[in-house]
Amino acid sequence: MKLSIAVVQFNPVRDNIKKNIRKLRRLLTGIKSDLVVLPELANTGYLYATPEDLLPLAEPQDGSGAFLTTLRELAAQTGGLIVSGYAEVAEGKLLNAAAAVTQDGVIANYRKTHLFDHEKALYSSGDTGFQIVEWQGVKIGMMICFDWIFPEAARTLALKGAQIIAHPANLVLPYCQNAMITRSIENQVFTVTANRVGKEHLDNLHLTFTGQSQVTTPGGKILYRGPTRKESVHVVEIDPERAVNKRLNTNNDLFEDRRSSLYEID
Ligand code: ACM
Repeated sequence: MKLSIAVVQFNPVRDNIKKNIRKLRRLLTGIKSDLVVLPELANTGYLYATPEDLLPLAEPQDGSGAFLTTLRELAAQTGGLIVSGYAEVAEGKLLNAAAAVTQDGVIANYRKTHLFDHEKALYSSGDTGFQIVEWQGVKIGMMICFDWIFPEAARTLALKGAQIIAHPANLVLPYCQNAMITRSIENQVFTVTANRVGKEHLDNLHLTFTGQSQVTTPGGKILYRGPTRKESVHVVEIDPERAVNKRLNTNNDLFEDRRSSLYEID
């Protein structure tokens, strides 16, 4: 079985959802793909001083806001599922979330489990747990950016059956792309990191996002690594069946060999 995946790397403009929507429409023109992965906070950009600054731009997960409505249209156009990071509002609280969107609407919503640095001053901690969506018979798990540094995130998704980990990101540290190779190998899954590019400044804080969006195979091969600074859309084809079997040789199965009772700490 073949599944096509489009990895979208762009520079979301802070405080300008209309412009970000226009950009995504342009980037996805002519793209047909079973799965499209967009960066973290693709609707709003990243740096905000206070929750009050970001709240008016955030959307409910029911898909009634401008950004998720557009993703629904774009899913109809690309012919598949779109996983995108976005700023979510729920009961007055802000969440750093990822939605899985088809032409029929939002089919799953994940709220970032591990908030990075000053995100803790903006967002409530994610309360959904790690989410899997089944699409065209393939299990796709979601995690967001800094979740990468906690191996438990990818492990939990893999134990729940994820064959592909869709990973919207706004990376600023230089380690993740290499770490995702290990996440692939240790879980025998595909990973798709859609990272943003560009710079943002707020007071004395200057961030440069690292690009290099990436797709890795269960064997740890880099199927694609994008440019560092440029916006790009790249489509790869994978066989998701390759992520089902966790057996490394006749004597080792990655999941059957786990000794979870010995991993507990009193
Ligand atoms: C990050 O989690 N956006 C670094």
